[in-house]
Amino acid sequence: MNKIDIKIILKDSTDMKTLDDGSIDLVVTSPPYPMIEMWDNIFHSMGAKNYDEMHNYLAKTWKECFRVLKKGGLMCINIGDATRSIDHRFKLYPNHSRITEKCEQIGFETLPYILWQKPTNKPNAFLGSGFLPPNAYVTLDCEYILIFRKDGLRKFEPKHEGRYNSAFTKEERDVWFSQLWHVKGERQNEEGYDERTAAFPEEIPKRLIRMFSIEGDTVLDPFLGTGTTALIAKELHRNCVGYEVNAELLPIIKRKVGVSQVSLDSNVKANLIIEPSPS
Ligand SMILES: C[S@@+](CC[C@H](N)C(=O)[O-])C[C@H]1O[C@@H](n2cnc3c(N)ncnc32)[C@H](O)[C@@H]1O
Repeated sequence: MNKIDIKIILKDSTDMKTLDDGSIDLVVTSPPYPMIEMWDNIFHSMGAKNYDEMHNYLAKTWKECFRVLKKGGLMCINIGDATRSIDHRFKLYPNHSRITEKCEQIGFETLPYILWQKPTNKPNAFLGSGFLPPNAYVTLDCEYILIFRKDGLRKFEPKHEGRYNSAFTKEERDVWFSQLWHVKGERQNEEGYDERTAAFPEEIPKRLIRMFSIEGDTVLDPFLGTGTTALIAKELHRNCVGYEVNAELLPIIKRKVGVSQVSLDSNVKANLIIEPSPS
C-alpha cells in the first residue's frame, strides 16, 4: 500500500528550515493580502507597517519557496489587489504586480496567470456616487492566481507511469487552462472561530494540484489557514506540508483534514503529522 504524509507545521514560513532544498514539487497558497484591513494586525505583529514592508515580509517566504522547490517545480499564488484611502487619497495597491516583481528578483520565471472571478447574485459594490462622471472607480471583482516556475521544464522519463495516471481530460483542460475562471467563493466563517478565515474554495487547489503535479508529489502551502490545500492534496494522493503561524486554527485544520491515519482507498493510506506535536 502507498503512503502519503500530510504534515502541518505550526510555525512561520519565512524560515522553513525543516524542509530540505529541492524537496517540494508544487506550492499552492494564498497569503494575507497587503493593505486589506483584515490582515493589518498580522502584518503589524511581524513589524510590517506599510505596503513595502508587507511585501518585503511576504518575499521572505517566496525566497524560501524557491529554495525548497525542485528544478521545474511550480508556485501558484492566489492574491487580490487592494484599494484604500490614506489621508483622504484613494488608491490601488496592485499586490499581484508587486509579488510578480519580488518573485522575478528571487529568480522565478513568471508564467501566464489566471484571473479568478467570483460569480455573485448581487450587483457589485459601486465605489462612487450616482451616475455622474468622472470620479467613480472600477470594482475589484477578480483575484489573481499567479504562476511561477523554478528553473525550466520539469523532466520525466518517457511513459512515466505516475504522470500518465495523473492525466486530466480534454474537458478539464479546456476549462482549467483558460485565463478566466468562474468559481464561487467560500464561506468565511468556521464554528468555534470568531475571525473571518479567508479560506479559498476547494475547487481552486483541486484544479491547481491536478494541473501542476502528479500523484505521489509533495505540495507545500506556506500560508495554510484552515487547511484547504492539505485536504485536497490528501484527496488527490499527494503529500502535503502546510505552515500556519496561527495555532488557533489547528482545531479547524484537524476537522477539515481528518483523523491521524486513514485509508483513502485500497491503495493509499494517509498519515497526519502535526509539529510541534500537541501535548
Ligand atoms: C489567506 S489565509 C489562507 C487561507 C487558506 N488558503 C484556506 O483555505 O484556509 C493566510 C493565512 O496565512 C497565515 N500566515 C500569515 N503569515 C504567515 C507566515 N509567515 N507563516 C505561516 N502562516 C502565516 C495567516 O494566519 C492566515 O491563516
